[in-house]
Amino acid sequence: MFWYMVILLSICGQVLPQQNNVCRTMKDYYAMDNNPNCWHNEIVGASVPDIITKTGRPFAVYNVTTNDGYIITIFRMTNKDSPNKKMNSVFLQHGLITTSANWVSLGNDSLAFQLHNNGYDVWLGNYRGTQYSEEHINFSVNDDEYWDYSVDDVALGDIPAAIKFIFNETGNKIIYVGHSLGSTFGLMYGSEHPEEVRKYIKLMVLTAPAYTLSNIRTSLGLAAPFVDTIYTASKYYGFIKIASFGQTTKDIAKIICMDSPKTMNSCFTFISLIYGPKNGIKPEMYPAYFDQHPSGTSLKLIKHVASFVGNSFRKFDYGVRNIGIYNSFLPPTYDISKIVVPTAVIYARNDWLTTKYDSINLYKSLSRKARFAIHEIPEENFNHIDFMFGTKAKDLYIDYLLDMFNNNSPSTE
Ligand SMILES: *[C@@H]1O[C@H](CO)[C@@H](O)[C@H](O)[C@H]1NC(C)=O
Ligand SMILES: *[C@@H]1O[C@H](CO)[C@@H](O)[C@H](O)[C@H]1NC(C)=O
Ligand SMILES: *[C@@H]1O[C@H](CO)[C@@H](O)[C@H](O)[C@H]1NC(C)=O
Ligand SMILES: *[C@@H]1O[C@H](CO)[C@@H](O)[C@H](O)[C@H]1NC(C)=O
Repeated sequence: MFWYMVILLSICGQVLPQQNNVCRTMKDYYAMDNNPNCWHNEIVGASVPDIITKTGRPFAVYNVTTNDGYIITIFRMTNKDSPNKKMNSVFLQHGLITTSANWVSLGNDSLAFQLHNNGYDVWLGNYRGTQYSEEHINFSVNDDEYWDYSVDDVALGDIPAAIKFIFNETGNKIIYVGHSLGSTFGLMYGSEHPEEVRKYIKLMVLTAPAYTLSNIRTSLGLAAPFVDTIYTASKYYGFIKIASFGQTTKDIAKIICMDSPKTMNSCFTFISLIYGPKNGIKPEMYPAYFDQHPSGTSLKLIKHVASFVGNSFRKFDYGVRNIGIYNSFLPPTYDISKIVVPTAVIYARNDWLTTKYDSINLYKSLSRKARFAIHEIPEENFNHIDFMFGTKAKDLYIDYLLDMFNNNSPSTE
């Protein structure tokens, strides 16, 4: 019976052509079969391990336990044949409500694959609560306790655990690359433990970094105050884990956004109002985008992110409990001038979420010693998620990063 199934499946696999799942224009999505403007993109609907192994690159998975008991999964593409003897390790950390799939969305033109093509040892982080990291030594994702974490807990829990693990495995100082909230984690870790970070990380690259979001242009800025109300209400009514659980929100988003080409287009237009209305993301990338978002996270973390709108970059605000927890009425501020590791900032002019002005402000707030480079994407229509899904991402910043790493990277002491 087993072999019969195997044979049957392999025959089917060969006979059935893979269905078209992406198209060049919105119009083509209405009739995808036998349409020369549509094709099958393997990345849509596939897991990161599947996407990477299909390319034939050496792939490994590691589970790392944080100090507070979360088990996070890290992916790796090694480079055993690299001519570069001192294989440089690069750790890529994704942002809010997504996963490491972001780093491979553009296929061969994605940052993760481009780094690997150039001889780097590439590691991909997935922080707690996202679909690849849902384990805890004591809790399951069905427990409220599991979802009781803020940005602080990821930045000072998941990130150090991952970085120390990689350092121990490779003996190399690491290049840390974050996108959006992934950059925030680096800023917090670097401010809180500057010497430790200097020991393990040789360069921090912050793309579309979320620091204080004073110049946010999206209407999400207006929504920020309501996050508090939703958070309080959800705790009171006990739906914190539903709202936090990735799969549920993802399914809802899929039902709404992937219902028809029309809804997909409307959803993408709406999304663009958050990230920057003008962009270089083609309709053929929309299915990959909706496939990856939103991934799971906690409402507590979202509430914390909302507190950065305005001029604040503090630890989580526990209100009256701050005195007991922090010994002060207000939560302590992360002082990014304490960062000592060389830091590069990459931003886009048309990013409505993490804006040019907030990025420049971030860079100016770093110490002279930490300022390594600041780079504006030389293109008007490039927004927050063009970094991951934009057709021109390779030309407009990945090549710049490769050049920085190959030629200019600060030497390891
Ligand atoms: C990592 O954890 C997952 C989930 O518990 C498990 O399925 C997988 O086998 C583990 N992998 C390794 C390499 O330990
Ligand atoms: C896990 O449970 C054990 C036994 O109850 C407890 O000692 C430990 O502190 C817990 N750890 C975490 C991180 O919750
Ligand atoms: C992938 O990108 C590299 C450049 O990094 C290029 O040399 C190679 O031809 C590309 N491969 C494919 C299959 O497009
Ligand atoms: C460090 O690596 C060694 C050998 O590779 C391993 O035995 C040890 O458990 C690792 N330590 C940590 C903290 O990961």
